Amino acid sequence: MSRIVYVNGEFLPEKDGKISIFDRGFLFADGVYEVTPIVNGKLVDYDAHMERLERSLKELKMAWPCTPAELRNVHEELVTRNDLKEGIIYMQVTRGNADRQFNFPKDAKSSLVAFTQVMALVDNANARTGVKIVTTPDLRWLRRDIKSVMLLAPVLGKQEAYEKGANEAWMVEDGKVTEGTSSNAYIVKDGKVITRPLSNRILAGCTRRALFRLAKEHGVQVEERAFSVDEALAADEAFLTSASQFVMPITEIDGHRVGGGQPGPVTRKLREIFLQEAQSV
Ligand code: PDD
Repeated sequence: MSRIVYVNGEFLPEKDGKISIFDRGFLFADGVYEVTPIVNGKLVDYDAHMERLERSLKELKMAWPCTPAELRNVHEELVTRNDLKEGIIYMQVTRGNADRQFNFPKDAKSSLVAFTQVMALVDNANARTGVKIVTTPDLRWLRRDIKSVMLLAPVLGKQEAYEKGANEAWMVEDGKVTEGTSSNAYIVKDGKVITRPLSNRILAGCTRRALFRLAKEHGVQVEERAFSVDEALAADEAFLTSASQFVMPITEIDGHRVGGGQPGPVTRKLREIFLQEAQSV
């Protein structure tokens, strides 16, 4: 099926969506991105994603490619033109085109591309069984709070997971789990959710933020602290969150079953609450 994609001011059939070989995203990974979920044809938590985009751009001294209103319109048009009921919109801003030089080019204009991907977010079969994960060293730079397109370490981590028959890799630094290659990491012990506090070492997930709010509203306690792999192995439950997986139970870590090898009650409850809200947008 051919999609309609967006490239710098134009909606085009995907085969016509092209960027320059001088795009700094291509040459230097000099770009940032967002992934926003769509449920029932509606954008979920859009404002949180745009808030984070604004921060990523600011931290990299990169200009907005258009106005926030235009960007919202790009998202809505893509949903309409592709008749997208459920899935995600990927959008990427780069510092634009210029002859290759490391420092910021003076006259380059930020470039914007966006496209849709169909995905089963609500009725995701993995959520029924839970997923397997592996652990791997965190090889990334120290500005992981910026949602940069520089994703080679996560690509290698995810590939390692797939080669070991798992879905995700939790990255480990100084003996503690930082986060997943494309998700935030959580364990549950004695009914309490434990996850690493925000810092430059992890991405501030929009799903994480929504989860904190929903947990509070439903009386689920959350403690922000780093945890080790051993602690995760001894936990009652483990799960991950992201815009494309929402709340996803983890039932195996490095080949060891977690919480009896079944999605746990706290995780299931949080997924359900999250889905209810996403479907009521
Ligand atoms: N990844 N941590 C990392 C390193 C991520 O790449 C992501 C998201 C998250 C979760 O953030 P959010 O809840 O806002 O999706 C945490 C997206 C989905 C991706 O790269 O496809």
